[in-house]
Amino acid sequence: MERFTVSGGNRLYGAVRINAAKNSVLPLISASILSEGKTYIKNCPKISDVFVMTEIIKSIGGKAFFDGDTLVLDASTVCDWKLPEELTKRIRASFFTVGALLSRFEKAGVYSPGGCNIGKRPIDIHISALKTLGVSVSESDYISFKVNRRDGGKVTLKFPSVGATENVILASVRRKGEVRIVNCAREPEIVDLQEYLNLLGYKVNGAGTDEIVIEGVEKPSARDVEFTPSPDRIEAGTFLLAGAMCGGEIEFRREYLKNSLNITKILGNNACKIIGKNDKIYIIRFTGRTKAFGKVVTGPYPEFVTDMQPQLAACACVADGVTVIEEKVFPERFAYVSELKKTGADIEVFGNACVIVGKKNIGGAVMSAGDLRGGAALLLAGLAAEGRSVICGVSHIDRGYERIDEKLRALGADIVRAEI
Ligand code: EPZ
Repeated sequence: MERFTVSGGNRLYGAVRINAAKNSVLPLISASILSEGKTYIKNCPKISDVFVMTEIIKSIGGKAFFDGDTLVLDASTVCDWKLPEELTKRIRASFFTVGALLSRFEKAGVYSPGGCNIGKRPIDIHISALKTLGVSVSESDYISFKVNRRDGGKVTLKFPSVGATENVILASVRRKGEVRIVNCAREPEIVDLQEYLNLLGYKVNGAGTDEIVIEGVEKPSARDVEFTPSPDRIEAGTFLLAGAMCGGEIEFRREYLKNSLNITKILGNNACKIIGKNDKIYIIRFTGRTKAFGKVVTGPYPEFVTDMQPQLAACACVADGVTVIEEKVFPERFAYVSELKKTGADIEVFGNACVIVGKKNIGGAVMSAGDLRGGAALLLAGLAAEGRSVICGVSHIDRGYERIDEKLRALGADIVRAEI
């Protein structure tokens, strides 16, 4: 077990390096099952969720290894369509492999997926969408899928689920006909998936809008492909908020912020201003205490992103004024609040919202992370708090942030990782 020990109050200065987006890389690893050669995913984060997905690929006969910061995948030897229980139950993204297995083998067998404990994680939208395409599904804890027809069709999602959109795309690329997905998710990570699949020779169009059209092709035309996913907008947003809470000057490459607009809009000139830039970078000066954010409501892209909700709440704890955050994607995503309160923060949960009255100072505390983004929120609070904080449950944070302690230390934070 590891923990972070943080002495708060240091301002942050320097350039930060953001990895490729976790939520792009995970479905891309599933999609690599549909290639006939090697896939090279550049700037890939070495995080535990990625390692679990590579173990899944190896468990069905594929190859996966890191060459520097490039993840090399070779699915040409994949020969099984049943995923092992232990691995699939560890992460939610394991379930996004179903679509690729159906396209390749016309069947799949997975266990109900795991994932961050941020509330109920149903899979009904995935199941009903696949059934619409003629896939039979036997449901118990072990779920088996079988393709009964391969023609096209139209799938309307009752909610723009990111994972369900990705699963249906992967289940459709080799069908005999056109599949249209209506009310699909519009997240930038789905645009990455489309770009990768089209590099392989598939025909996917419309990602980033609420309607995606897939024209089935028999098999990919390309063999080895190299792909650089978008930078992780949640990692970038987390460092933006770290700057907003601690003050200082941080250099971000411009592409880091291209998909973080709804975060930079929230911060606006309130907490930070761009003091220098060229065609590659922004230098952002954080002026110290931010003004509170008023009412913020999370929602599907391009609404304010739910994966930044806990981190924004942490920032609001030391902001000037009152912030109300309404969580409309994962209404129970507030487990971190009881831990944040240990710092003296004035934050209360009311149903699917939290109300934060910002304070000039919060104090260091011993806190325990219970999920990925909640853990990031506790870490941010420790950076801004007076005195020493200990954050336990670092393994949750390591699921989605590569060496976040080292990146923060390089910016001047006083943070140490230690074995408990
Ligand atoms: C993806 O999860 C992300 N994970 C999540 O990031 C992210 O929070 C979420 O999308 C929303 O943006 C990955 O990409 C690996 P959803 P996913 O299906 O696909 C309900 C992080 O911190 N729903 O878009 O599981 C669901 O309960 C993680 O990086 C159903 O009701 O999310 C939720 O209320 C956390 N039935 C809403 O839809 C379903 O079948 C959005 O979920 C599926 C989802």
